[in-house]
Amino acid sequence: MKTLTLKREALNQGSLLLVNTRHPLPGSVDPERLTPFNGTGVLLERRAALVLENLFHALGCGSSFLPVSGYRTLEEQKQIYASSLAEHGEAFTRKYVALPDCSEHQTGLAIDLALNREPVDFIRPWFPRDGICGRFREKMTSYGFVERYPEGKEGITGIAAEPWHFRYVGIPHAAIMERHGFCLEEYIDYLSLFPADGRHLEIEIQNKSFEIFYQKIGLKEPSVTLSLPSSLPFQVSGTNTGGFAVTLWR
Ligand code: DAL
Ligand code: ZN
Repeated sequence: MKTLTLKREALNQGSLLLVNTRHPLPGSVDPERLTPFNGTGVLLERRAALVLENLFHALGCGSSFLPVSGYRTLEEQKQIYASSLAEHGEAFTRKYVALPDCSEHQTGLAIDLALNREPVDFIRPWFPRDGICGRFREKMTSYGFVERYPEGKEGITGIAAEPWHFRYVGIPHAAIMERHGFCLEEYIDYLSLFPADGRHLEIEIQNKSFEIFYQKIGLKEPSVTLSLPSSLPFQVSGTNTGGFAVTLWR
C-alpha cells in the first residue's frame, strides 16, 4: 500500500469539480493549467484541451466546429451576465448564464461549441443532434466529455437545456454518467454513497475495471490521508463539495 496526503487546497482542483449556484468556485484557476485550444484564442484546462483536440482529430472535424467560449475569468463572467441582462432580460439570463463565480467556464473544463455557420450566437450557439454534431456526441463519452445541461435536468442543474455546452469530467466518469442518465449534480451525490471506509463503487467500463470512492475532508482539517494499493494507477479529483473522488484502474 502507499499513503497519499490530499490537501484542502486541492478540493477545487480536478476534472470532477461541481460548480453551480450552491457550489461556487472558491478562488481562480492557476493560469499555468490553461492552454489555447486547437490554436484558437479559446483557453481550456490542459488535459481537457488535449483530449478534445484528439476527439476533433478522430472525427476529422477540425473546421466543422467553432469553439465559442471556453475558460472565462470572473470578470468575463460578470461582463457576460451583465450584458445578457441588458440585452435579454432577467428570465433569459438566469436560464442561460451562470452567476459570476458559479460558472464552470471559470474552471477551464467547459466549452461551448457551435457548428461553423453564420450567424454564431454567443450565448446559445447552434449545435444540433444530427450530422457531424451527432457523431461528436456519440464519441465524446469515451473521451470523457458530457453534455452538462441536459433537457429534463433543469430542476437539478438550475440551468436550461444547453445542447452546445460540453464538460470534461474524464474517463470513466462520463460513461458512468451516461449509463445512469446522471447530470453532474446527481453523479457527485451518487459517488458520496461510496465512502472511503465503506463499500466502493466497482464498475466495468469499456472492458476495463474501475474502483471509485469518495474521500471526505473534515471542515477544519488541513489535509486527509488515505492508503491506496501501490500497484494500481489512480486519479484523484476534488469535487468542490467537501471531498475527493478517487478512481483506481483495476
Ligand atoms: N451557460 C453556462 C450555464 C454558464 O454561463 O456557465
Ligand atoms: Zn457554456
